[in-house]
Amino acid sequence: MTLSEHTRLHYLNALGITVWQLRKADTRAISQDIPSLPVSAEPSLPTNSHSWDTLRTQVTQCERCTLCTTRTQTVFGEGNLNAEWLFIGEAPGKEEDMQGRPFVGEAGKLLTEMLRAMQLTREEVFIANILKCRPPHNRDPHIDEIHACRDYLFQQIALINPKMIVAVGRISAQTLLETQHTMAKLRGQVHRFQHKPLIAIYHPAYLLRSPIEKRKVWQDLQFALQSFDGLGNELKPHSNH
Ligand code: URA
Repeated sequence: MTLSEHTRLHYLNALGITVWQLRKADTRAISQDIPSLPVSAEPSLPTNSHSWDTLRTQVTQCERCTLCTTRTQTVFGEGNLNAEWLFIGEAPGKEEDMQGRPFVGEAGKLLTEMLRAMQLTREEVFIANILKCRPPHNRDPHIDEIHACRDYLFQQIALINPKMIVAVGRISAQTLLETQHTMAKLRGQVHRFQHKPLIAIYHPAYLLRSPIEKRKVWQDLQFALQSFDGLGNELKPHSNH
């Protein structure tokens, strides 16, 4: 997708969101924070359908933790297998457990709206979770469940090879970044997960609980877009002197 930043920010503005823009110097400061990496300098690998099939089967049949005894079905994740954007939530909830699809409940509807505000669709990004099974009563994932499950996600990340990872919510961000820092500290920065840029945004469920914080969520989305645009700077060829 090649929408100009102007168009995107205009769109956000139309939603009634006060749009802030980085000044040139600030933009440079952000991209300097990102170590120069060949994020998409190499052509993306052809989709490895055999690996995807194997992984999907492994997840479907998984019994690595006790959540397999309470789940209705696993929630593998869905979207573009060659997506530039990978959104990673925490774990399936009730609706996701019933449908076998990520982010399809109330929070999911809001995530879809958030994507729309970024002029992205569910079909062009990939949406996954840290856990592939629903924790009973939507409790927080246990550490042993995260350890048992995270390898599936890591394989998905390797297969998709996204340009940008968006950790949706605290559990996702803390798990991927192996930190106990709060969301207040983690958001608004470009982190790295296995050399890939990672941004942490508030979970849409947080927005449902605290609508007054809407502004912060939109700020997160704008930061994600601007950081994504900034990735282009990493790919510009260096002049030969
Ligand atoms: N919340 C999440 O983190 N993931 C889902 O799939 C649904 C709700």
